[in-house]
Amino acid sequence: MEEKVDCLEYLSKEHGMIRAVSKILQEISRRISDGERVEAGDVGKMMTVLEGIEKCHRIEEDQVLFQLKARSRSFEEPIKELLAEHDKAREIFKEMRAGLERWKVGGGADAALSSRVSEYAASLAEHVRKEEIVFRNDDVRLLSPADHKDLVERFKKVEQNILGPVSKGQMAATVIELQNRLCG
Ligand SMILES: [Fe+2]
Ligand SMILES: [Fe+2]
Repeated sequence: MEEKVDCLEYLSKEHGMIRAVSKILQEISRRISDGERVEAGDVGKMMTVLEGIEKCHRIEEDQVLFQLKARSRSFEEPIKELLAEHDKAREIFKEMRAGLERWKVGGGADAALSSRVSEYAASLAEHVRKEEIVFRNDDVRLLSPADHKDLVERFKKVEQNILGPVSKGQMAATVIELQNRLCG
């Protein structure tokens, strides 16, 4: 029997990883606010994972959102909002990354950077929450099994191109390790 593939379930699994990343970022934000140390290596690992997962996830997700929009008008408004959030997140991410690169070297309490990291983390969690609502819209049934299969194949190609030899499994393991050690 052919394996059933569900592109929305695939993205929802990535949402689980993004939620964990959001928690780690909130802890990093707290430490930055309190002037506590975070190993530069951990900040680096966190940013590499975040950059990889976010880049793949958004490209994959944009493809699904465009398909949904083409199938039903009920997606038009929420998807417009989600796509705008994708663009905005890219901008905030760049600023946050530059701030963290500087902080990694000097350390110390930094209220502005702490709030930027915390806001970014909160916006990730909120964005994922909204998407999960869109994914539960009845009209997602308009995606056929062939659409699901085609989309998941495309996701895998995106991952190969962006992540290269690093597997998503390795990224998930890094997230779990950081979460256990920093937030445990
Ligand atoms: Fe998204
Ligand atoms: Fe998402």
